[in-house]
Amino acid sequence: MVETNIDPQKFETFIEINTLINSYYADPRALLQRILESATRLTGAEASSLLLVKPESRSLHFEIALGPKGAEVKQFSLERGQGIAGWVAERNRSLIVNDVSRDERFHSQISASIDFETRSILAVPMRIQERCVGVLEMINKRDGGAFTEEDRHWLEIFATQAALAIQNAKSFQAVRDQIDVLQDQMNGVRGYHTMIAASRLMQEKLELVARIAETDSSVLIHGESGVGKELVAEQIHQRSARRNGPLVRVNCAALPEPLLESELFGHVKGAFTDADRNRTGRFELADGGTIFLDEIGDLPPALQAKMLRVIQERSFEKVGSSTPVRVNVRILAATNKDIAKAVEQGEFRSDLYYRLNVLPIEVPPLRRRREDIPALAAFFLKRFNQETKKQVQGFTDEAMETLLSYSWPGNVRELENVVERAVVICDKSYISPNELALDRRGTRRGGEYEDKSLKESVTLFKKHFIRNALERHGWHQTETAKALGIQRTYLSRLIKELEIK
Ligand SMILES: Nc1ncnc2c1ncn2[C@@H]1O[C@H](COP(=O)(O)OP(=O)(O)OP(=O)(O)O)[C@@H](O)[C@H]1O
Ligand SMILES: [Mg+2]
Repeated sequence: MVETNIDPQKFETFIEINTLINSYYADPRALLQRILESATRLTGAEASSLLLVKPESRSLHFEIALGPKGAEVKQFSLERGQGIAGWVAERNRSLIVNDVSRDERFHSQISASIDFETRSILAVPMRIQERCVGVLEMINKRDGGAFTEEDRHWLEIFATQAALAIQNAKSFQAVRDQIDVLQDQMNGVRGYHTMIAASRLMQEKLELVARIAETDSSVLIHGESGVGKELVAEQIHQRSARRNGPLVRVNCAALPEPLLESELFGHVKGAFTDADRNRTGRFELADGGTIFLDEIGDLPPALQAKMLRVIQERSFEKVGSSTPVRVNVRILAATNKDIAKAVEQGEFRSDLYYRLNVLPIEVPPLRRRREDIPALAAFFLKRFNQETKKQVQGFTDEAMETLLSYSWPGNVRELENVVERAVVICDKSYISPNELALDRRGTRRGGEYEDKSLKESVTLFKKHFIRNALERHGWHQTETAKALGIQRTYLSRLIKELEIK
């Protein structure tokens, strides 16, 4: 430390930053930026950077860079031990180089490629528990001067502060993660799931859910398999006035007709041979709350008629009884089938369809809201870390790219499974593409084309390819045809032939 003549301006800055460290938990980057700015000003540097060590590769990346070329510098990173900052990180020691042109540790490529002349560098390590987590680097002492021992002392103090800020941010994040996991577990105890919605599209759906929740109308939730229809049903219930009542779930595809009928409506003793007790049906259990009828498209015709009456009159008879039972239940239903088509083909009653479909809501497939992928992946990672008692930190950049470019035919459920598997087999800090077992063509390795003839595979590929192109162009045929370099008439013939909907 400098013992005599402490510069009052420096001392004040030092105190000011110490105060900030206690208040900036949620925004560590802003705090680091402040620290770097002060350090730059007080050491009289023209430019500066704050580099962080990537724990996996021990390479350094530019987290913050100030000065005339700051924005450009940030695209670079340094290999382990490379350049002056790399040397400092590797040795965990400070370094002053007042003439970089005469120091072979200097990595001149960055300066050269952004057209910035570097003359002098002062670099010090940031340490957490003695371990170097990053480097503060001051570049070019103003007016052609040289960095001094005193500058180094001060920069080391700033580095201590910056390290403290980083450590605080890490602890804060760890606590927040823990809270999320506990919250998730609590939801699980109540039978509810946490719903992640990072994309605009899903945010809009949640707004729609909030509006739907206020009403008491029946809702039909459409969407491909695994998109989160059941979660949407939970959200509607939880945001509705019935939230303190029960949410009762029934899967209409899981049971054969007679069992499903007694499951839904209950039965009285002796109604059929093995009914030796009275049984309360799901509709009665849901009284005062919500019933969620999953896979409603599979409801057998006889039960469709009974269901229609429940919706119209809120009353029904138990199996084997003629006494009507009245219930106060809100009905939510979900399907991944095209019910409108089932209605056309006479498989689903149109009157029931219209009654259920008062408020339709469509949950979009994951490939149409890719912004959700990183948030969902992080969420599942946390959950499976917890379950497997592992500490996988995240995904490598390549792994995240793979996740982002995959087509996710199985939607969120598939992503959940892929992350679970990756966490289980991962033996490093970060999940890499290998552990995801996905490939960049958008199909699972082997998967879809397995056991198919060449002709079938080509047809399947064409179908996916054209559907994706149509989706990208908002189903506008003329535009899509143009983009694919084919005639519009040919495109519409392909759409028909390949049965693309
Ligand atoms: N937005 C989301 N946030 C967090 N988890 C989600 C989200 N969407 C779906 N999931 C998870 O993905 C899985 C599938 O969701 P869900 O069961 O709601 O889909 P579904 O549309 O009902 O599927 P299916 O048609 O196969 O019944 C569940 O484990 C669910 O918790
Ligand atoms: Mg479901």
